[in-house]
Amino acid sequence: MLNIAVFVSGGGTNLQGIIDNIKTGFIKNARIALVISNKKDAYALERAENNNIPRKTLSQKDFKSHDLYCEALLKTLAGYKVDLIVLAGYLLIMPETIIKEYRNRIINIHPSLIPSFCGKGYYGLKVHEAVLERGCKITGATVHFVDEGTDTGPIILQKAVEVLEEDTPKSLQSRVMEEAEWKILPETINLIANNKIKIKDKKVYISNL
Ligand code: GRF
Repeated sequence: MLNIAVFVSGGGTNLQGIIDNIKTGFIKNARIALVISNKKDAYALERAENNNIPRKTLSQKDFKSHDLYCEALLKTLAGYKVDLIVLAGYLLIMPETIIKEYRNRIINIHPSLIPSFCGKGYYGLKVHEAVLERGCKITGATVHFVDEGTDTGPIILQKAVEVLEEDTPKSLQSRVMEEAEWKILPETINLIANNKIKIKDKKVYISNL
């Protein structure tokens, strides 16, 4: 059984997607061991509570130094025997210490087709604003492994979403979530939990379920 820690900062609809897909049995051999938020008022924490999932708020500003913060994070993850870290709308950069310790065991969902509209400054609605500004006809979402760069790790799954002429950043964000994010994140977790993913030369290879 794969033990997952889901990191969140906000609403947690992607967290909900994971919870629901575990409940329906779409995701097999995985459980959410813990939800970690950097914000104590994140609605995602309520979603965890409603589903009896252990939750913690850990924020760098509550620690005297970056090292102490990393130490607390590592201790927490080890305490819950975490195998996979899922960044689901987590707005902070993962400390390098954690990336090293959990190499190829941290995944992130990004609301565009990487390598477009990703990297520094591209988060939340800003991504969708930029897609509309450029006049793109398609956009989408990407799940990738997390490395030391911003959105530069090996790509696992991507799904395209049509951009409509009447789209606003908000309507596009909603459709990208519904049509892409809430699908490919649970799919990726299921693939990892069932040993269907291999990485070679920074590329991801997927075998049939
Ligand atoms: C999603 O669009 C995700 O791709 C991005 O932040 C948003 C989080 O939404 N990184 P939620 O908290 O899962 O509802």
